[in-house]
Amino acid sequence: MVRPTIQSVPTVARTTAWADYGLIDSGAGRKLERYGRFTVVRPEPQCLWPPRLSEDAWKADAVFDPSGEEDQGRWRFSKPAPETWPLKWREVSFHGRFTAFRHLAFFPEQAGNWEWLDARVRGAGRPLKILNLFGYTGVATLACAAAGAEVTHVDASKKAIGWARENAALSKLDDRPVRWICEDARRYAAREVKRGNLYDGIILDPPKYGRGPEGEVWKLYDDLPGLMAQCAQLLSKDASFLLLNAYAERISGVALATLLADALEGRAGTIDWGELALMEETDDRGVGLSFFARWTS
Ligand SMILES: C[S@@+](CC[C@H](N)C(=O)[O-])C[C@H]1O[C@@H](n2cnc3c(N)ncnc32)[C@H](O)[C@@H]1O
Repeated sequence: MVRPTIQSVPTVARTTAWADYGLIDSGAGRKLERYGRFTVVRPEPQCLWPPRLSEDAWKADAVFDPSGEEDQGRWRFSKPAPETWPLKWREVSFHGRFTAFRHLAFFPEQAGNWEWLDARVRGAGRPLKILNLFGYTGVATLACAAAGAEVTHVDASKKAIGWARENAALSKLDDRPVRWICEDARRYAAREVKRGNLYDGIILDPPKYGRGPEGEVWKLYDDLPGLMAQCAQLLSKDASFLLLNAYAERISGVALATLLADALEGRAGTIDWGELALMEETDDRGVGLSFFARWTS
C-alpha cells in the first residue's frame, strides 16, 4: 500500500525577530520578549542558562506571575496597559492582549508555520480550500486568506472566534472568503465527512486538553487518532497539504509524523517533521515550543 515518506532528518522551524516581535533575552527559567511597544517577561522552565542582560534590562512593562495551575496566573504591570494593541506579521494584523493563560492572544513561534503556509498557498497555482481546526485568534487563517485561499476556521470558543473576526477586520481581510465556525472540531469534521465536503489543505493545532462549545471534553492522546482519520477523509484527491502541530509535553515530532503517515495510508507524498523554535534576536540561543508534522502531496 502506498504511504507518505517520512523525512529522516528533522526540521527546526526557527522564528527570529520581526518588526512587532522579538525574544530579547532568556534565562533563569524566563523569557524577555518584545510585543510591539511592550516588553514582557514570561516563565519558560526550559531556559536553564543564565540571562545575558542586566536585571535593569529585565525591568519589563508586564511580568506574568504563574499561579501554579497549568498556564494560569496574572500579569503585573509597571505602566498602564491597554486591553488590546495592534501587531502585524506580514499582511496580517492582530490584537495583542494580556490573557490569563500566560500568552498574548497569539503564539509567536507559530510564525514558522505561517511562513510555510504562506509559501504553500501562494505556490499552489490555484486557490486552495483550507480547513483550520483549533484556529484560535486566526493568524494562520488570515495568513492563508491573504495568500489567496478560501478558509474555514473552526474553534470551540465563541470568544476566540470573536477575536479572530476582529483580527480579520483589523487586517482589512474581512472581505476574503473565510467561514468562522464555533464548533467542536470532531463534530465539525464528522459532519463534513457525511456531507462529502473536501479540502485541499488542513491545519490542526489541538491543545492537550480542551472543551467543545457544549462542554465536549477533548483529550489529545485519546481523541487525536480519530480526528486524524476523519481529516484523511476530508482531503481532496489533489490535496496539497496537512499540517499537524501539537503542544504537549510527551508527544514528539516523530510520533506526529508516524500518526500522520498511518492516517494517510493510500496516499503518496512526503512528511517533514520537527519543532517550532523561538530564537533570540542574536539568533544563537532559543527554545523549542511545539512539534509538527507536515504532509505535502
Ligand atoms: C493551542 S490553541 C490553538 C492555537 C492556534 N492554532 C494558533 O496558532 O493561534 C487551541 C485552541 O483549541 C480550541 N479548542 C479546545 N477544544 C476544542 C474542541 N473540542 N474543538 C474545537 N476547538 C477547541 C481552544 O479554544 C483554542 O483556541
